[in-house]
Amino acid sequence: MPPRKIIIDTDPGQDDAVAILLALASPEEIEVLGITAVAGNVPLTLTERNARIVCELAGKPDTKVFAGCDAPIARKLITAEHVHGKTGLDGPTLRDPTMPLQDRHGVDFIIDTLRRAPAGTVTLCPLGPLTNIATALDRAPDIASRIQEIVLMGGAYFEVGNITPAAEFNIHVDPEAARMVFACGAPITVMPLDVTHKALVTAPRNDAFRAMGSPVGVAVAEMTDFFERFDKEKYGNAGAPLHDPCVTAYLIQPELFTGRHINVEIETQSELTLGMTVADWWRVSGRAPNAMFMGDIDADGFFELLTNRLSRL
Ligand code: RIB
Ligand code: CA
Repeated sequence: MPPRKIIIDTDPGQDDAVAILLALASPEEIEVLGITAVAGNVPLTLTERNARIVCELAGKPDTKVFAGCDAPIARKLITAEHVHGKTGLDGPTLRDPTMPLQDRHGVDFIIDTLRRAPAGTVTLCPLGPLTNIATALDRAPDIASRIQEIVLMGGAYFEVGNITPAAEFNIHVDPEAARMVFACGAPITVMPLDVTHKALVTAPRNDAFRAMGSPVGVAVAEMTDFFERFDKEKYGNAGAPLHDPCVTAYLIQPELFTGRHINVEIETQSELTLGMTVADWWRVSGRAPNAMFMGDIDADGFFELLTNRLSRL
């Protein structure tokens, strides 16, 4: 089976960084055509810089990194330095990037790539707010039918919100964008908090990263040490939830995940529940299914995959 061609759309973010590392460590299953940065956890000037830092940490300085949108479609940007730190990659000391940022805008790269590739051969992997994806769909509606699959981290149902009582961060930052993506007609697979909050970096799992002794292993352990303090305090968790690497792991070992093909709509009107993913898990609405909404993960299998692959870098 040839590797799946993907575009990673991301707002690094420590967990985005691990997702990118896992993708770059898995050439048998994944060909990263490019990485498009979006404003989210931290502003765009930092997310594009962090994406390049992570590519160089992986030893892949030839990866094409593009800067995308610096603000949500119709709202002011909300960032999450309280979780990810001022740089967005707080924790390890990482070298400034030397690889270039591509000149083209990330949205143009997404549109051009989907138009040039045979229909149904490129997967989009959004790990942050959906601003770039929605902007591309708005500017080039023809690309919707050319997308093989959109595999995204975002949303929540049984787990409810992490940035408000009702909404998960990626969707809450740009709910109008999320609404457009979930309505675009492309096959969508969702990794919500319902799954990612079961992918916890417990101490033994973080020790396994550190025990690699490699710059990647130590950096991931140090990122997690930093990133987990927020979730541990808030949820009393045994470790940080590794949200975004669930997207990459799905591309490599989909059998690690189980879910339901259901209707998912996005709240964009109510300030109280703005950005809520209204997931019709019990199929009571009669609305047509539009997403494979994941509900469970084989966490041990996930960390075994992650540790094995990261040790390659
Ligand atoms: O809510 C978790 C999501 O928001 C993750 O993608 C994390 O990186 C932040 O972007
Ligand atoms: Ca992210």
